[in-house]
Parts: sequence; structure tokens; C-alpha cells
Amino acid sequence: MNINKSNHLTQLEKSLPAHWYFDEKFYNKELSKIWSNNWIYVCHKSRLEKKLSYLTISIGKQSIVILNDTKGKIKAYFNTCRHRGSVLCNQSNGKLKSKLLVCPYHQWSYFADTGELFQIASFSKLPKGFEKKKFSLFKVKVKEWRGCIFVNLDKNSKWNEETLFQRNPDAFKNFPIEEMVVSDVWEKNIDCNWKSFWENFNECLHCPNVHPELTSLVPMFSRRIINPQDLPGWVPKSKESDPRFSGGLKKGAETWSENGHAQGCKINSLTESDLLKGHVYASSWPSIFIGGYADHVRIVRVSPIESEKVKISAEWLFEKKTLKNKIYNKENVISFACKIMEQDAKACELNQKGIHSIPYENGVLMPEEYVIKSFHDWLRKKLQLEIGKSY
Ligand code: FES
Ligand SMILES: [Fe+2]
Repeated sequence: MNINKSNHLTQLEKSLPAHWYFDEKFYNKELSKIWSNNWIYVCHKSRLEKKLSYLTISIGKQSIVILNDTKGKIKAYFNTCRHRGSVLCNQSNGKLKSKLLVCPYHQWSYFADTGELFQIASFSKLPKGFEKKKFSLFKVKVKEWRGCIFVNLDKNSKWNEETLFQRNPDAFKNFPIEEMVVSDVWEKNIDCNWKSFWENFNECLHCPNVHPELTSLVPMFSRRIINPQDLPGWVPKSKESDPRFSGGLKKGAETWSENGHAQGCKINSLTESDLLKGHVYASSWPSIFIGGYADHVRIVRVSPIESEKVKISAEWLFEKKTLKNKIYNKENVISFACKIMEQDAKACELNQKGIHSIPYENGVLMPEEYVIKSFHDWLRKKLQLEIGKSY
């Protein structure tokens, strides 16, 4: 699916039924049909650089532990002990004390490398017929795309890079994502359904009033569009074109930051045309979008917590040499993005509250909301619901 091109909606399209944003039964269906069989982003590999370092993530009620084993290989397991089901790792991240994962409840221990059961802390003779090898940790499939680690809870799932992203990741071909490192992580729980987060991200109708600072940095956003092509009568213009029409940054600005300066740390491999764009995005539904800017990359992960709660985790990636540069102040980009994400969080929460109104059944999409329409079609397909039908 390529949704980067202009694709104005010409037909009247309803937004999704209100109850899809809070109904528990519907939410559970999404967990099983979408979140349990798609490739879900975990983190950038630089966060698991050290051997025996681990990280846990939640996908709905599922907790997964992802670790770097004794041989430097990334492994993923359901975070569940095979004795009586306790969680194994209770922290969001850390480093194992040994090559074993030890259950905090009755101390069963498992090899980090294979998930096999190593030892049972019990003096009694094991019951007849108990076979240790049948009590290994439940494995989770894990794959890497350009330094980005993904898991899939479905053991029969296939890895396909062609279908991993809906918004084209080719825009990132000149960004050295796999060589960059995560310097900072920001997390926030937002009181909204996970789909509301994505809908908000996929349009800019809200930009001028919700994001005044961003709209001043990216003049095209004052026109409430996400692509220059979205302008009626758009024709490709030269690189000198007015940023209101090209989607680039305001005059003198180089990156998404408080003062717009890249502080002499632009990524060398980016071309002039990459830099003129100001920003590029790739999205892998349902779990991440990646933003690329002159001096950094930001990866934002979406995890459903409850039907009306979603966790957002943002990672900032920089080149190693940028982080070593004493003059470079990364806070310049981090605080700017946090401000935007806080503004979006507030908007999403207002949206979620309003949706409960008894007479509100469906909203309506505006022509500029064509990416939301693509998202809705994708969702219906995953849920095996007919596209275009009202529910
Ligand atoms: S539940 Fe893990 S050792 Fe008992
Ligand atoms: Fe926004």
C-alpha cells in the first residue's frame, strides 16, 4: 500500500462507529486479530546492546521479554513462568545477573539462550512423568529491520519486509538507522483508544490550533495538510519554492527542534533533497511510526493497554558522533518533540471523551483525511470486515 501520493477523498466516508473505541468485546477482537498476528515493534537494537540486557513490552495483556543472549543474539519469550504462570521479569528493562532467567516466585530458572528449563528449586522428588524439556519458555518470533526489532506473537507468522510498512520506508534509505543509537526514551499513557492515536497522527487538520510551534516551523501545516501534493492544483516546484507549498521548514530552519538549528550535526549521508523535505515519515501499523529529520530520527511505538488507554514510547536516535559532540545539545530536539506529543495526547483524550456521547454513532472524514481512510480500510481487512459497510 502506498499512501504517500495525494489521494483526496472524493466520496463521503463515515469515520468508525463510536463503540469501536471503547467496547471491550471489540477491543479483545482487535487484540487477537491485529495485535497478536502482526509484527510489533519492540525497540531499536542499541537499547539491547549489552549481552544479557533485556526489555519487556506489553501488547494488551501479553507481556513479552526480549533479551540479548550470551552469544549476542536477540531472543524473545512470553514473560511467563511454566510452573504456575508468574511473570519472570517484573522490570521494564535491566540486565540479567547470570545466563539464566529466574522466576521471582519459586525460583524456577531458564536458560536465556534457549528458554529451556534449567533448575527447579525444590527438595521433593519430581512427579513421575515430569519431563523438563516440556517446560521451556514459550518462544516469540523476533526479526530485525535496519536495527529495529520486531516480534510477532503468532508462531506461524511469516516475515515480509515488503508489507511491514504502509507508509513507504524508502524515504529512510539515506538515514543510517542501523548505525544510530538511542539516547533517550519518553513514555506516556494516554487515555484514548489506540486507533485514536493513529487517526490523530494521520492528519494535520488539527495542526494550526493544536501545534502552533510546529506549524510555525513547517509552514505547510498552516494549510492543514500533510503532503504538498494535497493542495488543490499542486504542481511540482523547484527546490526554491515557498515552504508553504513544498512541505519544507521555514526559512533558516534545519531540523525539528526548539530553535530549528541542527547545531552543525546534520547526518552526512542525507542528500540535499532529503534535507529540503524537512521531515520524512514511515509507518508500520499497528505499532510504530518513524520520523526522520536532518540530525536525528524519532521512533514512536504505540501499545494498547486497555480499550481506552494506550502507551506511547518515543526513542530518539542520533549518530554516535553527534552524541559525542560537546557543542550539540540534544535537548533542543527532545523537548520540542515532547511538546508536540503532549499536545497530541491532549487532543486524543478530548476526542476519546467526546466519543461516548449517546447520539454520536459515527463521525465523517474530510477529503484531507485520506490516510485515516486507508488506516480504516486496513483495520477492516485485518478484522475481516467488509470495507465500506456501516456497522
Ligand atoms: S510460578 Fe515461577 S517458579 Fe513458580
Ligand atoms: Fe498532531
